[in-house]
Amino acid sequence: MATLTMTPITIALNKGRIVDDCLPILTAAGMAPLQPFSDGRRLIFDSVMPGVRFVVVRSADVPVYVERGSADIGVTGKDTLLEHSGDGFYEWLDLNICRARLMTAGPRDRAVPEGRLRVATKYPFSTRRFYAERARQVDVIHLHGAMELAPLLGLADVIVDIVETGNTLKANGLAPYELIAEISSRVIVNRASMKLRPEPLQKILAALSAAAPPRAA
Ligand code: PRP
Repeated sequence: MATLTMTPITIALNKGRIVDDCLPILTAAGMAPLQPFSDGRRLIFDSVMPGVRFVVVRSADVPVYVERGSADIGVTGKDTLLEHSGDGFYEWLDLNICRARLMTAGPRDRAVPEGRLRVATKYPFSTRRFYAERARQVDVIHLHGAMELAPLLGLADVIVDIVETGNTLKANGLAPYELIAEISSRVIVNRASMKLRPEPLQKILAALSAAAPPRAA
């Protein structure tokens, strides 16, 4: 029967840009994947580091796997963590990759209307909290992508979205308004795993920390 210490340490990675930008860090940390993450059908990847494996899942699923202990460690964006209401994990490390800003944005040449505001977003929790802190009444319209379209089609007055270069907003006649949060990829760790298997986890976290790029000034 497999003992607990023989179970591989499982690291859940956010598919897409984060997993791409993680690869050089994982490689420098001595835990490169044995199969390419670009294999779109594979879900579990072994690591050159014995006793470590990766799973690649959608952003919102990373904290779910980690808080329930199916993954010991996760890597996802701060935007995803801000939307996730559970606990059961520590936010351990800022990897300083995929840096962006969660912002309100809207038409470049139009003032934000008075009264109740219609806000389209993939981030309903962060959006409600941001406007509640400002005592602003909002109708939050939950979309799952291409938020920039909403003001163009009259679905919303403003959007709350990730802004990196600002090019997507600009290309659609929109402009950033207010900063809600600075975003980057974070390493999260299951609380129980940290108590049960501190040694291998500390080793992995130290290697990731040493391999992460320094924070740009
Ligand atoms: C994000 C975000 C914007 C874009 C901003 O989308 O939702 O659309 O990037 O980047 P920019 O400021 O550099 O133009 P992403 O490409 O991650 O896809 P998504 O819509 O599926 O989230």
